Amino acid sequence: MRLKSLKLINFRNYEEATIEFSPGINILVGNNGAGKTNILEGIYVLSLTKSNRYGKDEDLININANNLSITGEVVYDDYIKEYQVLMDKFTKRVYINHFQVKKIANYISNFCITSFLPNDIEIIKGSPSIRRNLLNIQIGQLYNHYLKYVNEYNSLLKIRNEYLKRLYINSFADFKYLEVINQKMLDVSLKIYYFRFFYLENINNILPGIYRKLSGKSSLKIEYFNNIGLSFYDEEQIKETLISKWKKNLNKEMQQGMTLTGLHRDDLIFLVDGKDARTFASQGQQRLIVIAYKIAELLVFKKIKGEYPVLLLDDVFSEIDIKRRNNIIKYLKQDMQVIITTTDLLDINDDLVNSAKVFSIKNGKITKKGGVKNARRKNKN
Ligand SMILES: Nc1ncnc2c1ncn2[C@@H]1O[C@H](COP(=O)(O)OP(=O)(O)OP(=O)(O)O)[C@@H](O)[C@H]1O
Ligand SMILES: [Mg+2]
Repeated sequence: MRLKSLKLINFRNYEEATIEFSPGINILVGNNGAGKTNILEGIYVLSLTKSNRYGKDEDLININANNLSITGEVVYDDYIKEYQVLMDKFTKRVYINHFQVKKIANYISNFCITSFLPNDIEIIKGSPSIRRNLLNIQIGQLYNHYLKYVNEYNSLLKIRNEYLKRLYINSFADFKYLEVINQKMLDVSLKIYYFRFFYLENINNILPGIYRKLSGKSSLKIEYFNNIGLSFYDEEQIKETLISKWKKNLNKEMQQGMTLTGLHRDDLIFLVDGKDARTFASQGQQRLIVIAYKIAELLVFKKIKGEYPVLLLDDVFSEIDIKRRNNIIKYLKQDMQVIITTTDLLDINDDLVNSAKVFSIKNGKITKKGGVKNARRKNKN
């Protein structure tokens, strides 16, 4: 799939802007604060209906406006689809080919992306919810029913927690109902665990090799840290563990009004040569780890879906030395659409620039650069 065009209306610092992408490499050049990241964020929202940055949806609306629109034409092998996200301060609506899609889970997984954005460093440093979100976004783009299971799990979890509170204050409340909820939680947990184990196994099959190629020596692996203590999917063991833990911790859970065991507590640990990257890796290494993970994401997507998602790379080469930059570039393939931002074209390898469509971004205005040589000269000044 390829993003053919993007139209932003009242999105961040763009009042109205249209951009026609090349099906291959695209480079957005501009000074700090020009609006480069905002374009990638616009594409991210078009794909996933939410921003990856902190803050509220309404922050996305241009400060002088009350609503925004993001529209994108996406080209597939033999058809084109138009996606649209509309937001005002209170509502969000999404459309495919002008038809409103009521359930977000049915929208996501049609136009797919993999992105490396500034906040992604939080994948290493941030809270576990960031890593769970990452899993959900990736698996959700691969299998749209996965997100329906996650939604179902989250509503059951809410019901379960409320009921635990009720059991604690009301001695007449019925424990049978808790068993009914437990059974439902079990059923949907098995489905989600299955996807998470399967996905991470696929990632871990290729991640050590990718990181070794990028970094030159070390090896990277993800450990799936779940509080059921399993390193592989086993239906019977998952059932047994959940049931026995819920039983054992019932009093504690009732006191706290909270479910203490389950996949809502899942986490991922990035291990470089067996050591936790959070505490052992340098800033530059952490960036490289995230980039390696994103490449693995891209390749797993291609393996499962037969094509690449659109790749968004925000300022990917800063803080990375030349050798490693070139190692990253080797992963960018002919049949991949890539949209890269930079403040300086000189930071990007010549071959890549020569094969790219280059856009200049200035104060929320987009212009296509004439010749690449011209673009380089201008950028040098
Ligand atoms: N809702 C909004 N309305 C208007 N302007 C906004 C809004 N949100 C953010 N901006 C502005 O958009 C500008 C461009 O931001 P963006 O992050 O895209 O810059 P950038 O080109 O990526 O810069 P850098 O090179 O520093 O990463 C910022 O100056 C920011 O103040
Ligand atoms: Mg930026």
